[in-house]
Amino acid sequence: MAADNNMFLRARDRTYAGLTEDKEREWKGPFYFIQAADPQLGLMKAWKVGDCDGGGDEWADEVRLTKQAVQAVNKLSPRPRFMVICGDLVHAMPGTDYREEQERDLKEALKGIDPGIPLVFVSGNHDLGNTPTPATVELYRRGWGDDYFSFWVGGVLCLVLNSQLFFDGSACPEQRDAHEAWLEEQLQRTAQGPCRHTLIFQHIPLYLRSPDEEDDYFNLQRAVRESLMKRFQQAGVKAVFSGHYHRNAGGFHNGLDMVVSSAIGCQLGTDPHGVRVVVVTEKEVVHRYYSLDQLSESGMDEDLKKLLA
Ligand SMILES: [Fe+2]
Repeated sequence: MAADNNMFLRARDRTYAGLTEDKEREWKGPFYFIQAADPQLGLMKAWKVGDCDGGGDEWADEVRLTKQAVQAVNKLSPRPRFMVICGDLVHAMPGTDYREEQERDLKEALKGIDPGIPLVFVSGNHDLGNTPTPATVELYRRGWGDDYFSFWVGGVLCLVLNSQLFFDGSACPEQRDAHEAWLEEQLQRTAQGPCRHTLIFQHIPLYLRSPDEEDDYFNLQRAVRESLMKRFQQAGVKAVFSGHYHRNAGGFHNGLDMVVSSAIGCQLGTDPHGVRVVVVTEKEVVHRYYSLDQLSESGMDEDLKKLLA
């Protein structure tokens, strides 16, 4: 049991066990990783019955899709360096019905991942609540590890952020301020630092299509967005990977790639259930969204070899 739980609690002390600067500082050549979002166990049923607050009482579909994703990722050769899940792990908000069962079943589905592929978790609004509190943040950290941290992979610095603290940190000002101070420190280090690229992972996109679009449920508020974009660009961040939208979207602005990936679980648009393959070369970070069916096809390995060549 302890061993099982350890794979979900590797983000501790603001870093990630096994993917530390000490071990992973050096660039060793191109690699790739898998970026996924929103398995969100329970949303498919809630969406179907039109009750997104209380309707998520079944999640067999999301469990099946998550297992399909895990099996497809396990078969990839070469192996991805890690798989990151950009939030909304489950649908039930903290302290509501089905929460514990959904988390238990998601862990059960994810346990099948090849032990050589670290799973990196990012907190979403459903994981923390739309207005997180110290208690909901703590609950998340007990289940899935730190809500924000940095890790290194082959010379690339990755920052996992808690976008709920940008969206509405009013009920946990201490956490919000600590996150902010930590982020500033990371960005300053990045600007001077020896990393090949810096990548950011968060749940809520900065924007969906254009940096000057109006605020809505699916992006960060304009003032917050503009300030973060400026700071990320100044620090030389290459890309921000997100979920939340349950559709593929994004844009490219002043050297910063804003990547919005659709869901493993419920689709709100016309994209297939899928994940994104992200290839990191010395100069570039390139990515493409694959449906879970495509990911399971035999041609994938050839695709990967070409991209990594
Ligand atoms: Fe979501």
